[in-house]
Amino acid sequence: MTGEKAGALLPAALENRRRDVEGALLAVLPREGAEPAALVAAMRYSVLAGGKRLRPLLFLAGAESCGAERLPEDALEAAVALELLHTYSLIHDDLPCMDDDALRRGRPTCHVVFGEATALLAGDALQTLGFEVLATRPAGDSRAARRSDAIARTARALGVLGMAGGQALDLGATGVEIPEPERASHLRRIHALKTGRLIRLSLELGALHTGANADRLRGVSRYGDALGLLFQIADDLLDVTQTSETLGKTAGKDSAQEKLTYPSVFGLEGAFQERDLALAAAREAARELEGDSGLLAGLAMFAAGRDR
Ligand code: IPE
Ligand code: IPE
Ligand code: MG
Ligand code: MG
Ligand code: MG
Repeated sequence: MTGEKAGALLPAALENRRRDVEGALLAVLPREGAEPAALVAAMRYSVLAGGKRLRPLLFLAGAESCGAERLPEDALEAAVALELLHTYSLIHDDLPCMDDDALRRGRPTCHVVFGEATALLAGDALQTLGFEVLATRPAGDSRAARRSDAIARTARALGVLGMAGGQALDLGATGVEIPEPERASHLRRIHALKTGRLIRLSLELGALHTGANADRLRGVSRYGDALGLLFQIADDLLDVTQTSETLGKTAGKDSAQEKLTYPSVFGLEGAFQERDLALAAAREAARELEGDSGLLAGLAMFAAGRDR
């Protein structure tokens, strides 16, 4: 890559919170052995398979970038809603009617183990659990307006003008020749919606949790958009450059399925250049929020340089 090296590691301040995220996830999931047994097992299987836990960590980073110090427990509880919602999107993304993937987070995909109907329902139930968490945390009448704002923002980020809409555009562009003048802008829109909206939302909800003002929130949103695009460009590149073993998901599947991706539109070299441009944009947006170095810049380096 050009200029500075991207980092393969999450900033230590966030890495140190990963265990807290795991604990909070365990606390909100239905307990092991609960009924209906197959549905609960499928939900726990997919959520507790690891994963980077990036979206709850982004919530914490968004909060910290707006002045929160060590966050109270209710912030962590709200943050894990984002992991439940993200895992729902992954389970559905892997279904045979979508990307038809057999490997996720280093394990056979949910539908391979539990069957398609149960996987579909596990995704549904994780989505509704995510919204339940947002509707109930942080508790208390004084936080009611903030909770309903978070729910509305989350619904928009996941809906027709968010993740679901982006997934529809992604599928609509798969195995289809998109005319040259629109290819790059269409690709950018797909990535902004299917991946970018949830990443931006995660940062925004953290910022709102700390009571960020409108100006600060705009800066966080701008950074979130840049980080989301960067994250998905890197995902497209990893599909080409990494092994399935390292990724924990099937490498090389994008070109096999004729997906519209950064390497397919720009070529490998061009995709690396686009990644570097996206990294520069994210770092610039980070600089406006936190000065010359900090957590958000470190996160951008991680998003660009990660190996899975
Ligand atoms: C994978 O997300 C799906 C994309 C939006 C690219 P992650 O790369 O964050 O997956 P996990 O959560 O670490 O498994
Ligand atoms: C998925 O994009 C984005 C989601 C909304 C889940 P991909 O289809 O590229 O994600 P992976 O590569 O399967 O994780
Ligand atoms: Mg997909
Ligand atoms: Mg996929
Ligand atoms: Mg991918």
